[in-house]
Amino acid sequence: MERKTIDVVVLGAGAAGMMCAATAGTMGRSVVLIDHATKLAEKIRISGGGRCNFTNMNTRPECYLSQNPHFVKSALAQYTQHDFIKLVESHGLTYHEKTLGQLFCDQGSGAIIEMLKLEVDRAGVLWRMQTPIGEVRRVDDGFEVDAGDETWCCASLVVATGGLSIPPIGATGIGYDIARQFDLDIVPTTAALVPLTFQPQDMWGELAGVALEATEVSAGKGRFREDILLTHKGVSGPAILQVSSYWQPGEPVTINLLPDEDPAEFLASANRDALLSTVLAERLPRRFAQALAGQFGEVKPLKQYLPKEMSAIAERLSAWQVVPSGTLGYKKAEVTKGGVDTKGLNSKTMMARDVPGLFFIGEVVDVTGWLGGYNFQWAWSSAYVAGLNA
Ligand code: FDA
Repeated sequence: MERKTIDVVVLGAGAAGMMCAATAGTMGRSVVLIDHATKLAEKIRISGGGRCNFTNMNTRPECYLSQNPHFVKSALAQYTQHDFIKLVESHGLTYHEKTLGQLFCDQGSGAIIEMLKLEVDRAGVLWRMQTPIGEVRRVDDGFEVDAGDETWCCASLVVATGGLSIPPIGATGIGYDIARQFDLDIVPTTAALVPLTFQPQDMWGELAGVALEATEVSAGKGRFREDILLTHKGVSGPAILQVSSYWQPGEPVTINLLPDEDPAEFLASANRDALLSTVLAERLPRRFAQALAGQFGEVKPLKQYLPKEMSAIAERLSAWQVVPSGTLGYKKAEVTKGGVDTKGLNSKTMMARDVPGLFFIGEVVDVTGWLGGYNFQWAWSSAYVAGLNA
């Protein structure tokens, strides 16, 4: 092993790692950025359908889940969505806003990777891609990190190795292992922003491909008004991905199919000679309306349903409850919920309270954003403050 001395070692060259390395390098620190992947920042590349939803105009602490909901405040205030937008603009990139404040890069996600790479290069950071990380040791004046055939001696060690989602593109639990090695707690991890699976009896036949627009979906404390998409295995779409972060196994998910009106009034004002399925199809996709009507026995004209059946139909429209059998797991999850417990970290710097010089940033930390650019903003903000202090 060749021994080398450097100020800062950053583990993981994803969104957070590149941002942190560039910031620390710009501060005059010597930095090496180490990653085992062959291709740089694959998660940025596949994000936002290839357009990278790089931040959200409405970023605020309430859009994050963590055991300590206050933890994100300082970093998000020190490096805001507007700071990242300025960076994007300074590279001549353009963007557009989709729904709900989501900003996407017009030049595609590759341009965001190139921008960050350029920032890292400008800051004079050393790259070590395709480099497996070995042992990490605490020594008197910092840390030693074995990586490939080198041992790096550093004053500051930044862990930016992300979460567990999408293992084929490089996700590992190494960040959690390093945290445990230094006696930091780990909040149990689960797949989040992930499609939910249903029991076969809740699937109502072949509805895969049906999209329900602007439904209101809730689970636990999460409530979101967005589209849902029925799939072969269950449900997906933005509203479901959002509530998946709040859903606990065994609990129901409640779907309000008609959030803008009182379903009892809608049914009362409908043509009483029309079939239930025809009436429901005035508000819902036809295939779905037919399947839903079939849930109440033989499909009949509205006038033939008893009052208590009409109440049950109205109830189903405003609060369709299903207990998911699970999720599609880390293979399909956009993020990992849980991670390095924020109790052990300083929220202003991301440094471990009891291990001076050791930092955790990005998704490896117990901070999970909503869908819509919030997770990248957390990566940029947490990385920036660590870069200033590493
Ligand atoms: P990230 O995962 O980006 O980087 C971690 C790095 O560490 C990787 O390069 C990895 O190779 C490296 N690493 C891991 N283990 C290692 C080891 N043992 N040795 C060496 N290196 C190791 N968010 C958002 O805000 N907007 C969006 O549009 C999307 N879209 C999206 C789509 C899909 C399909 C996914 C899976 C995720 C998203 N996200 C998203 C989430 C977003 O990608 C995620 O929150 C950030 O990439 C997290 O950044 P980090 O730098 O923390 O981890």
